[in-house]
Amino acid sequence: MDTLVFATNNKHKLREVREITGTLMSIKSLSDIELDADIPETQETIEGNARQKARFIYEKTGMDCFADDTGLEIAALGGRPGVYSARYAGEGCSFADNVIKILEELQGIEDRSACFRCVICLIYKGQEAIFEGRVDGEITLDQSGAEGFGYDPVFRPEKQSQTFAEMPAYLKNGLSHRGRAMQKMLQFLSQLQ
Ligand code: IMP
Repeated sequence: MDTLVFATNNKHKLREVREITGTLMSIKSLSDIELDADIPETQETIEGNARQKARFIYEKTGMDCFADDTGLEIAALGGRPGVYSARYAGEGCSFADNVIKILEELQGIEDRSACFRCVICLIYKGQEAIFEGRVDGEITLDQSGAEGFGYDPVFRPEKQSQTFAEMPAYLKNGLSHRGRAMQKMLQFLSQLQ
């Protein structure tokens, strides 16, 4: 079984990714490999950030690894928060601060369409590959649900009646930006075997 290091300190993402890979591979977190690192994330695109994070971990460890970066793009906000999704409400802000900020900005706006885009950069046997997943949907009027993380309580994927935060993990993973990018990565790896 392949072992891949996932370049994140986000325990929610780690749990999702492990649920997606199941027994297909062993996913090591940074704490599993005892790497206490502040991963840089200073690029202006989500692809740039995914590459930067994966290269940083590869340079430190030499291990097969991958990193993901996600942006929530809201049409009425001209694609914001986009690459700034993590710190939209300011440096050191919480998930809740970000959610409140977008709900305030969308007050009275009819077009609530949005999408999540996730880019995964894999470095496998020294070679880089990029996988992208996207899910379209809308920002709800209020928060609902306690599952997931980040903007999940206010993002309802198209054709669904629940927000990501109301869904069981398997449902979110089957529809989500990260789930779709992960499936592409798993297919790529299976073709190499
Ligand atoms: P990151 O840079 O990939 O960590 O993602 C930036 C921000 O997007 C995170 O801090 C979260 O607020 C948000 N985010 C990423 N993935 C998800 C998700 O699956 N659901 C909801 N919000 C997410």
